[in-house]
Amino acid sequence: MRIAVFASGTGSNFDAIVEASRQGSLDARVCLMVTDKPNAAVVGKARSYGIDVFAFSPYDYSSKRDYELEIVRELKERGCGFIALAGYMRLLGKTLLGAFEGRIVNIHPSLLPAFPGLDAIGQAMEAGAGETGVTVHFVDAGMDTGPVIAQVPVTIDKEDTRADVQRKIQQVEHALYPQTIHKTITKLMKEVPDYDETGTTER
Ligand code: GRF
Repeated sequence: MRIAVFASGTGSNFDAIVEASRQGSLDARVCLMVTDKPNAAVVGKARSYGIDVFAFSPYDYSSKRDYELEIVRELKERGCGFIALAGYMRLLGKTLLGAFEGRIVNIHPSLLPAFPGLDAIGQAMEAGAGETGVTVHFVDAGMDTGPVIAQVPVTIDKEDTRADVQRKIQQVEHALYPQTIHKTITKLMKEVPDYDETGTTER
């Protein structure tokens, strides 16, 4: 299957997905990296892998629908059938959610429903939590609210700095995300008999 990765930041999860795809533990090819931050570090990473980039600035469009229509066009052109959000800092609208229903996942650095939204690690530390974790979930219109697919807990020790917790979370993320994407697309291909290998199924 061809999968697209959406990212707005440093792209360490993007890296992990591309590496797993190259090694074959993730049976998918990354067809496109989509970003709303044309200067983000992840753009350089995608280019160095020779992966197509669609970088847009939301302010150049009059609505979310307008830029999402363009993203859908870019995805369909390349036959992308699945989307993994990896630090993409925007809520998805009806256009993308409708075109890729049940085929969009996200990774979040907490055990959802705990600590949704921005700075989940900071929220957990602020709350004095002894445990946080990582969640991979399907994406719906809400902020980190879709059905959970996989979760792994991470301990926050008393002496841990924020950097320590972040390192532990990232270590889990980089293993869990490619693995969960692999399982999810494998299941999807079994469950959707008319799934078109070369692109999204029109519904
Ligand atoms: C990750 O912690 C992910 O859980 C969250 O955004 C961060 C992205 O980090 N959604 P990176 O850009 O993949 O390094």
